[in-house]
Amino acid sequence: MGNSKSPLVFLMSVAVLLLSLARVGRWISSHISLQSSVEAKSALITERYSCRQDYTVEIISFDPWVIYINNFIKEEEINHLLELTKDAWNSSEVFYKPQDHEDATFGVDKNTRNSSSAFVPHEDLVARCLLKRTKQLLGNAQHENVETPQLVRYTGGERFRPHMDTIEPTKATNFHPDYTERPWNRLLSAFVYLNDNCTGGETYFPRLTGVGADADGSKFSRAANRQGLLVKPKRGNAIVWKNLFNNGSVDERLVHASLAIRSGEKVGMNLFTWHYFDSPMVGDAS
Ligand SMILES: *[C@@H]1O[C@H](CO)[C@@H](O)[C@H](O)[C@H]1NC(C)=O
Ligand SMILES: *[C@@H]1O[C@H](CO)[C@@H](O)[C@H](O)[C@H]1NC(C)=O
Ligand SMILES: *[C@@H]1O[C@H](CO)[C@@H](O)[C@H](O)[C@H]1NC(C)=O
Ligand SMILES: *[C@@H]1O[C@H](CO)[C@@H](O)[C@H](O)[C@H]1NC(C)=O
Repeated sequence: MGNSKSPLVFLMSVAVLLLSLARVGRWISSHISLQSSVEAKSALITERYSCRQDYTVEIISFDPWVIYINNFIKEEEINHLLELTKDAWNSSEVFYKPQDHEDATFGVDKNTRNSSSAFVPHEDLVARCLLKRTKQLLGNAQHENVETPQLVRYTGGERFRPHMDTIEPTKATNFHPDYTERPWNRLLSAFVYLNDNCTGGETYFPRLTGVGADADGSKFSRAANRQGLLVKPKRGNAIVWKNLFNNGSVDERLVHASLAIRSGEKVGMNLFTWHYFDSPMVGDAS
């Protein structure tokens, strides 16, 4: 995958999206009124549910910033999310540039990505907990917004070619006029594995230096060519990385792909936090 250079460059240049920008708009409105259907949706999980976190963190890379999280999400939370979304799956959409078209567009493009996606209602009890958990992970860093969690499912042969999770402002403008003045970009990406019942399906970062030879191979490992990092689907665990430099520009070292599933099924969840360009990046002394 890393050796097919031109699709990589192409895809990075169109800044493939992981979700519908339209959903972002819906998120903004749902964020304003959280009260709606919390009662109904929470029936899926016990009343004793408490939003606690007891994960552990392992550093993967200091620069760029990448960490691995063990037990980011609990079994009951995973089961709840899978039950909640069981009728909500649809072909995943991406931001892409059709052949012979000047402008990028948004929709299903199986040549780029042929997985299925399901959006978790923002007001769901577990979704709210996960958003809070993600904000807490950011701690002292700026963290106004976390996008609605989106689940993604890959089965036989499905994959997502190399892409960035960031949204390129000029391309986004073509998609929706509201984004002309888009004052933010995705700071952190968390990819959480909800189901690891598969072979293949690793998350592959071709430009990250491989981990040491004695790393826990059941979680992450070097690619066979010794270039890049492979993260294996492991239920409950997550890989988290920072997409932006401190000056707000996109750090393309975080380009990544979901490698093809050879057998079984992978289900993951994306969580994205937003950085607003008019705020300083916490921790930048310059
Ligand atoms: C799937 O996508 C189609 C076409 O956009 C839409 O009509 C349908 O409502 C979607 N289904 C779900 C479950 O979101
Ligand atoms: C997804 O795309 C890959 C690569 O082209 C292909 O091998 C696979 O059969 C596709 N799967 C589906 C379900 O479209
Ligand atoms: C932002 O910072 C990165 C990393 O230091 C640098 O490569 C890039 O040129 C900077 N971009 C701008 C617009 O200053
Ligand atoms: C794992 O996936 C296989 C093939 O999709 C399926 O037959 C099996 O029931 C799955 N097992 C679990 C525990 O999900």
